[in-house]
Amino acid sequence: MLKPFADAPGIYRVIEPALRAPSVCNTQPWSFRIVADDRIELRANVGNGPGRGRWDLLLHSPAPGPWPREYAISCGAALMNLRLAFRVLGHDPVITLVPDPVDDPGLLASVEIMVGRTHKPGSLEQELYDAIWQRHTDRWPFSDTPVRPGILVEMERAAAHEHGWLRVLHGPFSRRWLKVAADADAAIAAARDRGNGMNGGGAVRDGRHSTADGGAPDGGNGAPDDGMSVTGDDTAGAAPATYEALLRQFRDELAQRTGGSDSGHGIPRTAFGPRPATAHPPVRDFTLGGTEPAGGEWDGTEWNGVEWVAEPRGNGQNGGTAERDDARPGDVPRERFERHPQLMMLFTDRDEPADWLRAGQALQRALLTATSLGVSASFLTQPLELADLAFRCDSQDGRLRRLPFLESHPGLPLHRRAADASQRRSSSAVERRGYARRHLLGATPWLEVPQMVIRVGYPENQAGKPDISTPRQEPDIIDARSAPPVRVTRPRSGPAPR
Ligand SMILES: Cc1cc2nc3c(=O)[nH]c(=O)nc-3n(C[C@H](O)[C@H](O)[C@H](O)COP(=O)(O)O)c2cc1C
Repeated sequence: MLKPFADAPGIYRVIEPALRAPSVCNTQPWSFRIVADDRIELRANVGNGPGRGRWDLLLHSPAPGPWPREYAISCGAALMNLRLAFRVLGHDPVITLVPDPVDDPGLLASVEIMVGRTHKPGSLEQELYDAIWQRHTDRWPFSDTPVRPGILVEMERAAAHEHGWLRVLHGPFSRRWLKVAADADAAIAAARDRGNGMNGGGAVRDGRHSTADGGAPDGGNGAPDDGMSVTGDDTAGAAPATYEALLRQFRDELAQRTGGSDSGHGIPRTAFGPRPATAHPPVRDFTLGGTEPAGGEWDGTEWNGVEWVAEPRGNGQNGGTAERDDARPGDVPRERFERHPQLMMLFTDRDEPADWLRAGQALQRALLTATSLGVSASFLTQPLELADLAFRCDSQDGRLRRLPFLESHPGLPLHRRAADASQRRSSSAVERRGYARRHLLGATPWLEVPQMVIRVGYPENQAGKPDISTPRQEPDIIDARSAPPVRVTRPRSGPAPR
């Protein structure tokens, strides 16, 4: 196809793969703008909430929390897919990351191609492209068989190709991360909204937010309605919110995004997967401490046709995950997960928006590589999110605030010296935040900034598994070649969102 933006089917052929990218809480925080026959822009789409579209406000707030970073990682993953889509059409995309950070910070990437000239994709590009349609976040148990080292190396290489440094977390680090993740889940679950009315969201019902449209975080096109109210407060010069208030708001936002919605965004409850039978589970608790089954059909012995273990199994020996000791009669049965979860951590050199986009591209290339080699993945990023949330710059005097979450974990010190040094060296709150994430594991041998943690493994029990694909919403695509710009809608004959 010599002119990929000639018509709506052509445009969707390029953009549809981008929509299949993973995104934080399935927020799909991207939009696309065709600005010339040979150029398309990828923008951060931060929804209908206060400050709609103002990624810059979100980004430069004294307390931005994890959202802007994770939106950018998500957009980076979409960019990777977009690049592959161009390659299978024969185009060589030239990418500029964050081309205009001062005047147009919402413009995350500009993608330029040479119109009228194509050359065949390589077999690896074709394989990665094909994997786009197979990849899903898999929160189900993996087999106890360790992933072949050669595959882990291939994943590391794939990430390195995009300037992301993906590393296997071995024994003690892995066990430590599982514990930190369980603690983070518990901290989020405990931060129930006590009616402080901070975010103006829906009323809390059974620990979940109800909203006018049945759980969707916004009433509009389904784009994320961000935690802009916190940042709005701060940027407006109001007293900075406390860590506890930020945590409560974060929990509310997660509840909104995991409450189950059929509007094509948020994480549906069927995708939560089963509850693990371990004290330090290798998957996130998206029920936010709830006791009900994660979703699907539960008839007392089977969930979605899968038999559940009545009692936790596994003994946590040999360095494996420890068994829960708090199982009570009447509890939701829990599923046995792999004994030795294999975790990998993705790092970048720095912690600016361009690095987050690199992280997203590296993540996606690694995930597609894994998929093409029969390996599934899920994510375990909640400690990084809490580090972002807790690490704020006091708007009064610009000083670094300590991290209550980390302080409550003596084994995971935020090294005061490192934090102080970062305070002297950096004038950017965004950059300082990376230090909080760096010190989550205590003394690590790595200097770079952690961005993501994934769990990899061979999927198990395929027969009883429900469909784990997550729906997508209709994207924001603007064709700005005409005046006024027009919205591009899905062609009738085009592929439907899956
Ligand atoms: C930045 C980022 C952070 C994520 N964090 C988590 C996480 O902590 N736990 C989890 O289970 N999934 C996490 N996910 C996966 C998303 O929930 C998932 O991509 C989304 O629901 C879409 O589903 P899919 O990946 O199956 O297409 C994360 C994804 C991204 C891009």
